Amino acid sequence: MMRIAIQAKGRLNEESMELLRESGISIDAGRRLLLSRSNDFPVEALFLRDDDIPHCVAAGVADIGIVGLNEVYEKGYDVDVIHNLGFGKCRLSLAIAKGESYTGPSYFNAKRVATSYPNVLRQYFEREGIEADIHEISGSVEVAPSVGMADAIFDIVSSGSTLISNGLKEVEKVLFSEAVLIATPNLSDEKRELLDQLLFRFQAIAGSRGIKYVLMNLPKDKIDEVVTLLPGMKSPTILSLAQPGWCSMHVVISENELWTRIEQLKAIGAEDILVLALEKMIK
Ligand code: PRP
Ligand code: ZN
Repeated sequence: MMRIAIQAKGRLNEESMELLRESGISIDAGRRLLLSRSNDFPVEALFLRDDDIPHCVAAGVADIGIVGLNEVYEKGYDVDVIHNLGFGKCRLSLAIAKGESYTGPSYFNAKRVATSYPNVLRQYFEREGIEADIHEISGSVEVAPSVGMADAIFDIVSSGSTLISNGLKEVEKVLFSEAVLIATPNLSDEKRELLDQLLFRFQAIAGSRGIKYVLMNLPKDKIDEVVTLLPGMKSPTILSLAQPGWCSMHVVISENELWTRIEQLKAIGAEDILVLALEKMIK
């Protein structure tokens, strides 16, 4: 039995649970349990505040955990970062009042900066040779400037809307973060094996994110042109159609280039293009 620490609520909870569910691991979190066992995989989930996850994993209270890289860096505990999970993307940034003119990092000399991430911030200021006054507060950091508690803040920015609604502007992006899978050092062989199984499933899911499965009808003499256009494929799937001279071709295309590719495919002569969501890609 392996124990995985997961954020009890907040930004990473939903996507962490979704990742486990997509991996075939259902966990009942509905009854507000601190600890909940899965029926389909030898794992139990320990629901914690994100701030507590690195410590619990380092201490071996949980074997593995899903947490933001920002918390891993801030806490500095000895944990192995096993895998980037591709969700919960954000950054730790310095922000100041919208109306202030910003002159570069030296702006922060002798300024009071409110944050819940004093360690990451201290290291940044040390690197930049800046002497600022770091005020550690545990929440509602973004209101600190408007109540006169600080001149600037250092906090998580994701969409940026919290900054905007508090009259602040982002001036330095210090650390880029996303959800990561962490593990306690020195996992037993038995747990390492379970971790590898989990990782295999996570990778299959991550590999299929943003990828679409595209089917199209294509004149057979255009196959080579499409293969040249989409060189990523080892070997496209081609099925003959009843109509002579035509085939059905199946390819995978990443979402961010989907429309460009579809226009190119149409220009080559593809018709009846179907775009399907891809659930898992197992390599
Ligand atoms: C963070 C941060 C901001 C907000 C930024 O809080 O403290 O309030 O997210 O996100 P935005 O740029 O999309 O507006 P979070 O929800 O992580 O809660 P926490 O600070 O209590 O961990
Ligand atoms: Zn938090």
